[in-house]
Parts: sequence; structure tokens; C-alpha cells
Amino acid sequence: MRHDDAPLRVQHQVPVFVQPPQRLLDPGRVEPRPAGQLRPLRRPPGLGEGPEHGQPHVLHPLVVHSCSLHSKVPRERGPKSSALVPSVVTMTQAEPSTVLVTGATGHVGRPLVAELLAAGHRVRALSRRPERATLPAGAEVVAGDLADTSSLSTVFAGVTAVHLIGFGGDYAPLTNGSEIMDLAVRAGVRRVTVLKGETEKTALDQAVEASGLEWTYLAPVEFMSNALEWAESVRDEGVVREAFPDVRSAMIHDADIASVAAAALTADGHAGREYWLTGPEALTAPEKARVIGAVLGRDVRYVELGRDEIVARWREQGFSDEDVEFFLTMRTNPPEAGYTVLPTVEEVTGRPARTFAQWVRENAAAFGG
Ligand SMILES: NC(=O)c1ccc[n+]([C@@H]2O[C@H](COP(=O)([O-])OP(=O)(O)OC[C@H]3O[C@@H](n4cnc5c(N)ncnc54)[C@H](OP(=O)(O)O)[C@@H]3O)[C@@H](O)[C@H]2O)c1
Repeated sequence: MRHDDAPLRVQHQVPVFVQPPQRLLDPGRVEPRPAGQLRPLRRPPGLGEGPEHGQPHVLHPLVVHSCSLHSKVPRERGPKSSALVPSVVTMTQAEPSTVLVTGATGHVGRPLVAELLAAGHRVRALSRRPERATLPAGAEVVAGDLADTSSLSTVFAGVTAVHLIGFGGDYAPLTNGSEIMDLAVRAGVRRVTVLKGETEKTALDQAVEASGLEWTYLAPVEFMSNALEWAESVRDEGVVREAFPDVRSAMIHDADIASVAAAALTADGHAGREYWLTGPEALTAPEKARVIGAVLGRDVRYVELGRDEIVARWREQGFSDEDVEFFLTMRTNPPEAGYTVLPTVEEVTGRPARTFAQWVRENAAAFGG
């Protein structure tokens, strides 16, 4: 649910980490970004080779990322293995703490703020424009720009845990990770979660791991909120237009990412983990269209776009040739991790991951419901 009139950035319907087109929720308004400014994640070295599961497949960027970064994850195990998450997470009672939430006005940040407040924690919410944040009254909203370390000098004071997004404006990865983590360490922060948007270890990741803090990576496959890209056409025409109807995505409810973050920020047992996060089912675009229609109680048709049409849409949205090539590869040879349902959310939170139907019910107004 939107709480302000800020542009809604919707990411591509790709079950991998890519940077989003600058597409607005408002009907008919598209804010293109300069070509090449937002980069999709670079392909991993193993792309196209994929020998891990005894059959050729494209490795998900984070399969490679995870296996190379965290030696405790056996390389021979693919994303289906629950070894990627702890088999048993100790559900310790969380002590009230003060949590700094960055990206607090975003898809994950808003539910995270709400969940932490509901659990009795103090929340400091960072925004570049606090006056437009429209966060719950219980949150202390502070001004700050992650890309400008000087604006962060006081935001960590009294904070015990921090949720970090890994990007600054226009989705560029933060380059001042070590400065941010220096501030956090000096302020006595104990735990940090990082919402991953990159396949490779970033400067922020390196600083987080070197900080000595208890860190947890959150690696969602695809946000369910990406489906908002179809809101306008569903609302106006009852149509979902998308290409590659056979590609499945194990997308996750944004609030489930927040729930995992809340657990990692406020309870023991999550330090040094990289949590791959998926929803409870892997759906194709036509299946998602059917779910939207069923929830809205009206006919919603899937209309298949041809390769040229989807490429034209990406170009219209400002993506470069390299971005387009990457998107095509991800759709024609999708990585296994993009459609492999994992039990992580339930293992960490103790309750099942939310379904796409539930997400549509909560966001029905955007689709004209
Ligand atoms: N969508 C997906 O399918 C998907 C999948 C995997 C990973 N991811 C990753 O998840 C992350 C969230 O993506 P999203 O598109 O959904 O974002 P989003 O929720 O729209 O979040 C944008 C947030 O970032 C904050 N922000 C941006 N630049 C900032 C800066 N310089 N300083 C402080 N805050 C800043 C904004 O806060 P203010 O405007 O209030 O300052 C806003 O709260 C990205 O890293 C993305 O790569 C997304």
C-alpha cells in the first residue's frame, strides 16, 4: 500500500537480481532512466555452465555468490538444500532494542518498521525526505542519505541493530560501506542485516564482514511487488502483458523479507547467515494473471508479448544493450534458484511464507479491485 505520492519503482519480472526500470505507478507515466545508469547484476563466472546438480543449468548469481562467500555452505549443494539456511533456528525471545531501518519508506522497509514497532522495539527510520516518509507515529524518522556519510553522523546513536539497503540514489551500489560501518561500530551497534541487490560482494558487504558485527544477508529472489508493473493494464484493460510465459518465479511477499529481517535484527541465531528468500510457490506470468483475476473476481487475461515487443519495452524504459541481453538470458535459460521454493521464511519466522494471492488481496486497490 502506498503512503505517499513518491514514484513507485517497479523491478523487472525477472527471478534474479536486476535493477529496476523507473516505472511509475501513476497511469501512463514512465520515467525513463538514462541508458546504462542502472546496471543489472553482472553474470556470474559459472553462467551457462551449471554443473552442480548433475544437469546443465544457469547458476543463479547468488548461488555462486553464496558458495564462494560462505564456506560453510557446501558447494555441491544447490539452492534446494536447506543447508543454505540453518536447519533449526533458535527462536529466542527478542529483547526490546533500538533498530535503525534504512530504506524505511521502501517495499521492505515499511513492513519492517511496522513489525518492529508491533513487537515493542524502538525504531529509527532513515529517509532522505523525512517530511514525506508518512511512517507510523511510533517511529523516529530521521534525515539521512546513505550515499553521503556526513549526513549519517548521529543516526546510529543508541542503535543496537541496523537494517541496511545496499544502494544509494538511482540504485547505484554504495561505495562508502566502510565509512558507514565505522560509524555503526563506534556507536556500539551489535547486529546488521543487509538487503542484497548485487550478485557480487560489494564494498558494503566487505565492510560489514570486516566490522565484527553480527551480520545477516537477506537475498530475496524476486519481490511480489514487481507485479505492480501490471497494475495499470489490469486496471484499465484486464490484461497482463508479459513475455516468456513458461518462466517461473518463486517470488516472495515483501513483508516476509521484512519478517526475516526483524528476526535477524532482534534475536540470536542468525549471525553469519545468508538467507535466500522465496515465496511458497513458483508461478509463471499466466498463472499470476489467473491469481490476480481470481482475487479481483473478474477476468484478467494473460497476453503474451513477443521477444521484439518485450525488448522494445525494456529499451523504452531506458535499459542498455547489455541489460537487455542479460534479461533475455535470464528468461531463456533461467537460473534454478529463481524458481526453486525454499523453506527459509518458515524456518526463520516460524510461520509459512505468504502467498501471491494474499499479496494481491492486500494490493487489490492498485489493480482496480
Ligand atoms: N524487486 C526485486 O525483485 C528485488 C529482488 C532482489 C533484490 N532486490 C533489491 O532490493 C532492494 C530494494 O529495491 P526496491 O526497488 O524495492 O526499493 P524500494 O523498496 O523502492 O526502496 C527504495 C528505498 O531506498 C531508500 N533510498 C534510496 N536511496 C537512498 C539513499 N541514498 N539514502 C537513503 N535511503 C535511500 C528510499 O528512501 P527515501 O526515498 O525515503 O530516502 C526508499 O525507502 C534493492 O537493493 C534491490 O536490488 C529487489
